[in-house]
Amino acid sequence: MEEKKEKRKGKVRDINAVWKLLEEHYKEMKKTTLCELFSLDPQRGKKMSIEDVGIYFDYSKHIVTEETLNLLLLLAKKSDLQNNIEAMFQGQKINFTENRPALHTALRTPKEESILVEGENIIKKVQRELSKMENFARLIQSGEKRGYTGKPIKNIVNIGIGGSSLGPEMAYQALRFYSTPDIHFYFLSNIDSTDFYQNVSLLNPEETLFIISSKTFTTIETMTNALTARNWLLAHLKDEQAIEKHFVAVSTNSAKVEKFGITSENTFLFWDWVGGRYSLCSTIGLSLMLSIGPENFSALLNGFREIDRHFRYTPLKRNIPVLMALLGIWYNNFFGAETVAILPYEEYLKLFPTYIQQLAMESNGKSVNRYGEKTSYKTSPIYWGEVGTKGQHSFYQLIHQGTRLIPCDFIAFFQPLHKIGNHHQLLISNLFAQAEALAFGKDKEKLEEEGIKKELIPYLVHEGNRPSSMILMNKLTPENLGKLIALYEHIVFTQSIIWDINPFDQWGVELGKILASKIAKEMENPYQVKLCHDSSTNHLIKKYWDVNNKRKK
Ligand code: F6P
Repeated sequence: MEEKKEKRKGKVRDINAVWKLLEEHYKEMKKTTLCELFSLDPQRGKKMSIEDVGIYFDYSKHIVTEETLNLLLLLAKKSDLQNNIEAMFQGQKINFTENRPALHTALRTPKEESILVEGENIIKKVQRELSKMENFARLIQSGEKRGYTGKPIKNIVNIGIGGSSLGPEMAYQALRFYSTPDIHFYFLSNIDSTDFYQNVSLLNPEETLFIISSKTFTTIETMTNALTARNWLLAHLKDEQAIEKHFVAVSTNSAKVEKFGITSENTFLFWDWVGGRYSLCSTIGLSLMLSIGPENFSALLNGFREIDRHFRYTPLKRNIPVLMALLGIWYNNFFGAETVAILPYEEYLKLFPTYIQQLAMESNGKSVNRYGEKTSYKTSPIYWGEVGTKGQHSFYQLIHQGTRLIPCDFIAFFQPLHKIGNHHQLLISNLFAQAEALAFGKDKEKLEEEGIKKELIPYLVHEGNRPSSMILMNKLTPENLGKLIALYEHIVFTQSIIWDINPFDQWGVELGKILASKIAKEMENPYQVKLCHDSSTNHLIKKYWDVNNKRKK
């Protein structure tokens, strides 16, 4: 015990010392500009880039020097990053508040390897479910598996929320180019009846398959939508026997699934050591596999696996997710940046920023460290974004000339999926132009040279010095999408280690859930129960009831 305490004290002392060095270094760096850094070294653009695992990563447009990077890497070392990475891959119980491993990486581990959890080789279980998904996908795609009245399945509705929806929906959108044209896919998430109305009510029930995706099989949004879907189907098909032809489940909770009336044959399992927002590679990816087919799904897993290997085995200073994570720490904790913009120059990636939002913010939106103490530093920034060039014509103004520092992650592909005219070249020239404009801006002297009217000059000055990363890959393929997602998973993990927090729990969403179910009961008739909320909430509950029940005051 004493020894452990002493070890911790030593670690904290070392980390604080590096943190102090970084603070001192920041005072110098904030006086520097990207223009100066680039003029000091004409080779900077080339030197500060890495080409590995099919990713070209240019980090030269960051306000950093070799010294900055060395200090950040020292911070990672003192935080014991490499041992923590090993602990994750080996299945140690790194999710310490829930006392379990976080083994999403096992979902893409080759079948010959083994990882033991409680003495059992989980890779066998993973492969078994994967084969079950593949068989099912082939039967649906070939039309062998049909609906209750014998019609082929033409609509697939994934019912789920958060990690049980955002991953499959984002990846489905991202890989639509590879999707079967014969089946339409829908993602029903919101408890708002509009979502059900828009996604389901106009479909033909005879041709519709529902996938109820829920790790816990208790989430109110998902269970409410699932029951409504069940009633909707029965209202049309009028036979309980139809359920097994039109409903399958993806869950860790087989008991609850069975209670809902779904057989084990129609249940695809995953396990509590897979976090919701890390579950796309598990059976949660069933809707995606049905859309892109087992081969493409397998290519996606390959992409994940390549980045897993890169993250695990590449020295920290050439390790792309580690460098991206450390650059994020630099702006978040030293420059005081509040947000990160995710800016894919690829229309198919339009849901990618939303997906990263959950991945990063539900993981690292914490303020208590592993010892139960309040952190004295900021943790996760806010993630947001939009595809280029649409963002350029809406919010980029603020990134260029606003009062906030917003580091940007630009993501793009050298080749388009649809070769139409010179669209792709124009798209990518816009991307390169944005990164250049943000970094180097346009100063007063240049504007004067151009003969701009004196009184307009202050408005036209672009200060520059706004940092960005450039992530380029060859083409948007299933494999490259896998790489991109795994890249961000490991960025989030690396940052959690530096911030010393648990990225695998999400207690922050529990309180709202508990209160919502209490309020839902009270709303049945708030005048018959004693409302014990604050006066605002009490009044809102009554107001809602009054309006819906036309209560006269
Ligand atoms: O919002 C909290 C959360 O637990 C997410 O982490 C999760 O992805 C989502 O709800 C859905 O949970 P489930 O898959 O259990 O329905």
